[in-house]
Amino acid sequence: MEHGFAGLFDLTGKVACVTGASSGLGRRAAETLARAGAQVVGVARRKDALEKWQSDTAGDTASVAFDLAQRGRLSELAGAVSDRFGAPDILVNAAGINPREPADAVTPEGWDRTLDLNLAVPFFLSQALVPAMREKGWGRIVNFASLQTTRAFPGGVSYGASKAAIAQLTRSMAESWSRYGINVNAIGPGFFRTELTAAVFDDPQRAERNAAQTCIGRNGEAEDLDGPMLFLCSDACRYVTGQVLMVDGGFTAK
Ligand SMILES: NC(=O)c1ccc[n+]([C@@H]2O[C@H](COP(=O)([O-])OP(=O)(O)OC[C@H]3O[C@@H](n4cnc5c(N)ncnc54)[C@H](OP(=O)(O)O)[C@@H]3O)[C@@H](O)[C@H]2O)c1
Repeated sequence: MEHGFAGLFDLTGKVACVTGASSGLGRRAAETLARAGAQVVGVARRKDALEKWQSDTAGDTASVAFDLAQRGRLSELAGAVSDRFGAPDILVNAAGINPREPADAVTPEGWDRTLDLNLAVPFFLSQALVPAMREKGWGRIVNFASLQTTRAFPGGVSYGASKAAIAQLTRSMAESWSRYGINVNAIGPGFFRTELTAAVFDDPQRAERNAAQTCIGRNGEAEDLDGPMLFLCSDACRYVTGQVLMVDGGFTAK
């Protein structure tokens, strides 16, 4: 395929579905993909926050308020998502939770909720949306990994297990679907200030310790994710699949 370099990142004519579009990194990804020309459907539970994302974002957007904990209804969700602009070419699985339960206080319910949302939902929602991507011979799926994919943090038992497993899930999904033009990768953010990391950033010393652990010397800013996200959702990554791209300022390099 011939194109100028700018065309490598152009998402005009593509439809994207972003889970977790009501907040934080998912919201940022949903904005970025819309700015790159995609028609974007955001999914999360909070209808008002999704509407706010839509009103703040130029371009074609739609939202589906849905609780992803309802795993049995993910094919129904895939139908609702596809109703607005057609079947998605791009899926960004950003919805996630971190219960931060100390090891001795981990409950079966907290474990199940975390593993379900962070690990099972990205797979089963992908499985529901892949047939249409396969028919088109083009698709991009981006999962969310973490520093906890390879590092242990306090209170990270179920979250860390889910984020380590998402790396292997990403490789398995890539092995299954890349031959049909569907590239599957994960982004592994360092520390970014969102609702999820409020506890970290509310403690300035802790935030500073994390910043000092990076090679660059600071924590992440939302815009640090834009280039990597665009790369993994576009033609630019056509021979890149099954990878975890750490966007962590070099935290895991030291
Ligand atoms: N922030 C960081 O530094 C960081 C670092 C590494 C990895 N990550 C990963 O990045 C992803 C986004 O995290 P974030 O920091 O942006 O967190 P966030 O601001 O707390 O956003 C989490 C998103 O997940 C959605 N969500 C949670 N439970 C849901 C459910 N049952 N059904 C539907 N949507 C649900 C939330 O929407 P509703 O509440 O409206 O449902 C929200 O949009 C996560 O996978 C996280 O593990 C973040």
